[in-house]
Order: sequence, then structure tokens, then C-alpha cells
Amino acid sequence: MDHTPDITVLRLGHRPGRDERITTHVGLTARALGADRVIFAGDAASRADTVEDITDRFGGPFEVETTDSPLGVVRNWDGTVVHLTMYGLPIQEIESEIREVVEANNPLLIVVGAEKVPFSVYEKADWNVAVTNQPHSEIASLAVFLDRLFEGDELDREFENAERVVVPKDTGKLVKEPEK
Ligand SMILES: C[S@@+](CC[C@H](N)C(=O)[O-])C[C@H]1O[C@@H](n2cnc3c(N)ncnc32)[C@H](O)[C@@H]1O
Repeated sequence: MDHTPDITVLRLGHRPGRDERITTHVGLTARALGADRVIFAGDAASRADTVEDITDRFGGPFEVETTDSPLGVVRNWDGTVVHLTMYGLPIQEIESEIREVVEANNPLLIVVGAEKVPFSVYEKADWNVAVTNQPHSEIASLAVFLDRLFEGDELDREFENAERVVVPKDTGKLVKEPEK
């Protein structure tokens, strides 16, 4: 991409107990793979602390927001809306078109669900995007979508203001404080 778009991931729905780790991992995946912020709704707000803690330790910038009206966020979004769903159009057929529009029409909202997603989201979305037309996971679909959108550039992103950085090693683990 020529310009880095402003990207928000909205986690729609959250079943307390059952979805705790998945909701957290939606936030962590959004952060790690180049999104600017995640919005958690209602019962998922408790997950915000975990994602903020990782951002404090491993760097940002990355914002975590919460809302009582996730459908209002979608309805009032002033920019491009992508909804990830197994019922959508294959990502490989529309990714370049999405990239072009996102470059011209920031900001981008990426919506992922937990359980049944209201039809109003399918209608409001500029694209309903499928990462295969098979059922799998919001974490997997988000990761593939971001990687396709950025064409792999997100893998080289440098994080700022980290308390610690992982030093890649072929064997073992090495974590150190960043050099000032
Ligand atoms: C476990 S699925 C449940 C979907 C739910 N049964 C429905 O009808 O909307 C949770 C979320 O994972 C994402 N997802 C699952 N499979 C997908 C696929 N093949 N492509 C894109 N997103 C997918 C969607 O965002 C979906 O809302």
C-alpha cells in the first residue's frame, strides 16, 4: 500500500465465559498484524485490560476502545466497512479492489462476529469478505485479511515504546529491553 490506512477492528458479540480467550486473541491479532485499534462491545470490555497490558509491554501504538452500541459503530462509520463472513465474496477475487478503495477512503472498519451477525451488518458493509467459504474462526479470518490487505508488509512493522522486545533466535527464547 502507498499510504498506511487507519484500521479499526470491531469485535461484534461476545459470549461471557466461552469467548474470553477468542475475544482477547482478536485484539492481539489486530495489534500484531497492523491494525490501529480494536473495539470491544458490552460484555467483552473486560478483555481490554489484557490487550492494553500486552501493548504496554510489547509496544504500540495500538488503542483499545469499548462500546455499548457496536451496531451503532457500524451504522455510523464514516469510511469503508469490511465484514468478514464465510458467506461473502472470496478474498482473493476482491482484495485488490478493497486495497484501492481503502487507500482512497479511509478509515477502514473490519467487523468480525462471534455468533450470528445481524443482517444489517451485511447490508451496511461495503464488502462481505470470505476467507474461504468454509466455517472457521474470526481470528484466522482477521489474520488472513490483514496480511492480504498489507501484502505482507505488516510482518516487518516496528513497534514503539516497548518495555521489552523479542530477539529472534533459531532455538530458545531471548527477550531484552529495547536499546534507547
Ligand atoms: C465462529 S464464526 C460464527 C459465524 C455465525 N455462525 C454466523 O452465521 O455469522 C465467528 C466469526 O468468524 C468469522 N469467520 C468464520 N469463518 C469465516 C470465513 N470463512 N471467512 C471469513 N470470516 C469467517 C466471521 O467474522 C464470523 O462472524
